[in-house]
Amino acid sequence: MIIGVPVEIKNFENRVGITAAGVNALKEYGHQVLVQKGAGLGSGITDEEYRKAGAEIVSSAGEIYERAEMIIKIKEPLPQEYDYLKREQIIFTYLHLAADEDLTRMLLEKEVTAIAYETVQLKDGSLPLLIPMSEVAGRLSIQAGAYFLEKPQGGSGVLLGGVPGVKPAKVVILGGGSVGINAARMAVGLGAEVTILDISVPRLRYLDEIFNSRAKTLMSNKYNIAEETADADLVIGAVLIPGGRTPALITEEMVKNMKEGSVIVDVAIDQGGCVETTYPTTHDNPVFIKHGVIHYSVSNMPGAVARTSTFALTNATLPYVMELANKGLERAVEENRALYAGVNTYHGKLTCKPVAEAFNMEYTSLEDALKGQ
Ligand SMILES: NC(=O)c1ccc[n+]([C@@H]2O[C@H](COP(=O)([O-])OP(=O)(O)OC[C@H]3O[C@@H](n4cnc5c(N)ncnc54)[C@H](O)[C@@H]3O)[C@@H](O)[C@H]2O)c1
Repeated sequence: MIIGVPVEIKNFENRVGITAAGVNALKEYGHQVLVQKGAGLGSGITDEEYRKAGAEIVSSAGEIYERAEMIIKIKEPLPQEYDYLKREQIIFTYLHLAADEDLTRMLLEKEVTAIAYETVQLKDGSLPLLIPMSEVAGRLSIQAGAYFLEKPQGGSGVLLGGVPGVKPAKVVILGGGSVGINAARMAVGLGAEVTILDISVPRLRYLDEIFNSRAKTLMSNKYNIAEETADADLVIGAVLIPGGRTPALITEEMVKNMKEGSVIVDVAIDQGGCVETTYPTTHDNPVFIKHGVIHYSVSNMPGAVARTSTFALTNATLPYVMELANKGLERAVEENRALYAGVNTYHGKLTCKPVAEAFNMEYTSLEDALKGQ
């Protein structure tokens, strides 16, 4: 198969859809990989590295889309890229179609096969191509929080781990899923006093086991959240309600009760945020202060550490890319139900139910769409 990897053109997007190791693996199976000139630079991967791994470096996006049977990307195609896509081409990327009707209609009109990273789903309901970014955001949340606690950044001037003879900072993590557990690992590692709140008892039990006495676990409810946030130095918002908007579990009243110069990192901001006073910010202006508390609420945190994020994401995507390239789409989705769930559009049919519902459009199961062939 001919696989194309274009430069990402979305603002502040420095990730790239493949690493040199990925190119190498595809080449070993006899596939041809076209990488657009400079595509890896934002992630510290040079054209030379790609070339050595066996890629052909191509100068324009137009040529990539013209020649490739499958496009591997990070972000959804932008309107400037719509014209490039062609009939029966496969595009494998983050798509978030339920938020973009124009893009959905374009993919259907052009009969593009679109596979969305975020809907690839394993039997147990987990989303293997979202987890790596939650891991990155969780770990980064503590790094960002520690930085903004510094006095020159407007923070209270507390060092997370304290020093001998001086108390460490108190870190409160709301939500103990992928983001929360990774935040906790970092905070515990730095020597902070850590509390994790969640509503799932089995999850709290698991967290209690793995952190032993190094992190405290607490049932998440209004009373406990109010108590824990009041004397926290750093609060991490890491709640997810599958398919829904995150509720504002930390109210404005609670924020008012927090210490001057304390920091909130609301990682859940991409789903609406779990703090009443947060709104989405960007990497070039990541924080604002409300009621004396610094709020960090960047909706695409992994973009700040593009190199790590690229490697983390492509580690997870490559097995699916290999399967698609080796077997072709039809056999790959038949043999791999996770990939089957990832297909959002196929030959002009909308095969993702939530997207069809979002726009009141006709839904066709992928099984039927495949039979229509
Ligand atoms: N800002 C970013 O760049 C970025 C990056 C990655 C993930 N995220 C977001 O981070 C959030 C967390 O993602 P995740 O992968 O950890 O999800 P997850 O499903 O792994 O974990 C969510 C956890 O929240 C818990 N929860 C649900 N309701 C709760 C409540 N009322 N109180 C406390 N805990 C509650 C669940 O039990 C679960 O353990 C999501 O909103 C996700 O979209 C943001």
